[in-house]
Amino acid sequence: MEKLLAEYRKTLGDFEIVDIDEAKIADLRKQLDVDVPIDLHWTWNYGSEVEELRALYERGKRGQWNAESDIDWTAPFERSEWFLPKVGLQLMPSVLSIMGADDETCKQAAFDEFAWTFSQLLHGEQAALQLCGQLTNACPTLDAKYYAASQVADEARHVEVISKFLQRKIGTIYPISGTLKVLLDKLLEAPTWKTKTLGMQCLFEGMAVGIFDMIQKGSTNPLLSDVIRRVKQDEARHAAFGILTMRRVVQDATPEEMEEMEDFSFNILETLNANQQLDMLHDLAPKYGLDPTNVVQMLVGSEEWAKFNSDVFMHTVVPNLARLGLITERTEDRYRKVAIMYGDRFGQGTDADVLASLPQS
Ligand SMILES: [Fe+2]
Ligand SMILES: [Fe+2]
Repeated sequence: MEKLLAEYRKTLGDFEIVDIDEAKIADLRKQLDVDVPIDLHWTWNYGSEVEELRALYERGKRGQWNAESDIDWTAPFERSEWFLPKVGLQLMPSVLSIMGADDETCKQAAFDEFAWTFSQLLHGEQAALQLCGQLTNACPTLDAKYYAASQVADEARHVEVISKFLQRKIGTIYPISGTLKVLLDKLLEAPTWKTKTLGMQCLFEGMAVGIFDMIQKGSTNPLLSDVIRRVKQDEARHAAFGILTMRRVVQDATPEEMEEMEDFSFNILETLNANQQLDMLHDLAPKYGLDPTNVVQMLVGSEEWAKFNSDVFMHTVVPNLARLGLITERTEDRYRKVAIMYGDRFGQGTDADVLASLPQS
């Protein structure tokens, strides 16, 4: 299987990066219409066929909240205050701090980087909204359709809450990163509901649970904490849907289908990782006197790189793929080589919110 964005790859020491140029990124952003195949599937079975999905749907109904009236939008989120730790969570303030930049500069970089990252999460939420609409059409059982429809409402609320946060509290929405646009289109264009579920519900929802959990644990701003806590509880249900559905899919899959899903998963995650935040650095680093390529070179060359780079992947997505049998002897070394996998292949165990959304066994 050919690597994604093959023409934008370069090597940096032992590591292969994806570095997309400005013109290509502009093209990707202009591409608003995506040709999407959908197999619409009726069902005449109005009873419940998949009890665990029906239970998840019930859980989703109970978990609804209102992004306008349940959030205290008068609470402050200020550029002049730290809201995440200075070092460790965000790239630019960490690098600037190591280089001896003053506290004010690090704080400004942290605010800008967060605005950029939160904007990418917003675009990801829009993709999830679109994709769940597709699943509502394509999934075979009524339980899955009910569940996907309830997730459509969740994702609309996430687009609403994050865009309001960016507009009201930050004042900027950064455009989508080139790498992210390519990968999200790949999921939306996937030919079957199984691949769409694997791509969005396992890979991207799994990444989202990891990212939101890290922000939640680091946040010292009450408004941000409240928004993230609410979104993450929803995302945990979405990740649970991915796990429950994919467990059934892999049971029925042929060895060839398993290999195909295994390669698809690796290709998506490898490409995301190969960008190493270069898309963000191109937009923001020059403002702080940093050279994007130098920053990445410093990262991948550092001793602890595999350990901290793998953190977000090892939180949920990689352990889930390993449990599903979608990371095997055949691919495990590839994950380790690019520092997506590190240490125990099952990571730290299942996230508490995801666990609460899974049937107790
Ligand atoms: Fe979401
Ligand atoms: Fe989601």
